Amino acid sequence: MFYVFPTPAAIAEYVSEQMVQRICHQNKVVLGLATGSTMKPVYDRLIDKLKQQAVNLDGVYCFNLDEYVGLAADHPQSYTTYMQEYLYDHLPFVPGQLFMPPGFRQPSTQECLDFSACIQQLGGIDLQLLGIGTNGHIGFNEPGTPFDDRTHVVRLSAQTRADNSRFFDDKSEMPTEAVTLGLQDIMDAKEILLIATGAHKAKIMAELQSCSVDERLPASILKTHPNTKILLDEAAAQYLDPEQCTKYSSLLKHHIYR
Ligand code: GLP
Repeated sequence: MFYVFPTPAAIAEYVSEQMVQRICHQNKVVLGLATGSTMKPVYDRLIDKLKQQAVNLDGVYCFNLDEYVGLAADHPQSYTTYMQEYLYDHLPFVPGQLFMPPGFRQPSTQECLDFSACIQQLGGIDLQLLGIGTNGHIGFNEPGTPFDDRTHVVRLSAQTRADNSRFFDDKSEMPTEAVTLGLQDIMDAKEILLIATGAHKAKIMAELQSCSVDERLPASILKTHPNTKILLDEAAAQYLDPEQCTKYSSLLKHHIYR
């Protein structure tokens, strides 16, 4: 389940290739996409590959994991802006292919559930990308979130607000709430790739490896998913038990469509 790569670039190469292969070989692909600094190298490589190979994107649908509540869509730190800047503006998508959780104002419970239902109507997520917060959150599912939640509004923890406020010039603009896919929506994905890079993720990744499945560490639910890979660079893997890790090279022999 834990695969160690030499660098973030090597992870980006592997993950972008998985995405391209799916897009090329499936008539319809539903992607679950994440934001954060971890994903930037992945999207850079994905854009390069899709352009170089002139891949047809007509059958691709993209759903984002999360969005802040209360930021305008065009706010520089909204996840809508992030996705446009780092992925969507570089590729010939049309609006009907791209879905963001409804975060610009406080969404109703029904609007949140409609987002989960929309994913299901399109056949469910084929490939879900995940980063991880330093407290073990995935999406914005903070510690203590019930494993069976669907899309919902969350109050961000102090740790998450401290971690993410680094992106805000004016720290007072850091939102207190967000809307996120629930852990049940994430677990419904057919395949999940969680990426963790950098020494600041080493402690939580060691906890994740050794812990049992417990709502206090949201990412621990992934241990019960039948098709999840956790991809780490050496810095994030430094405290892991090497006996429970697999070298990345074993994965390269098993690209899904080769
Ligand atoms: C945010 C996002 C998560 C992301 C996490 C890690 O809190 N809601 O989806 O996985 O940050 O971000 P980074 O990649 O910048 O470390």
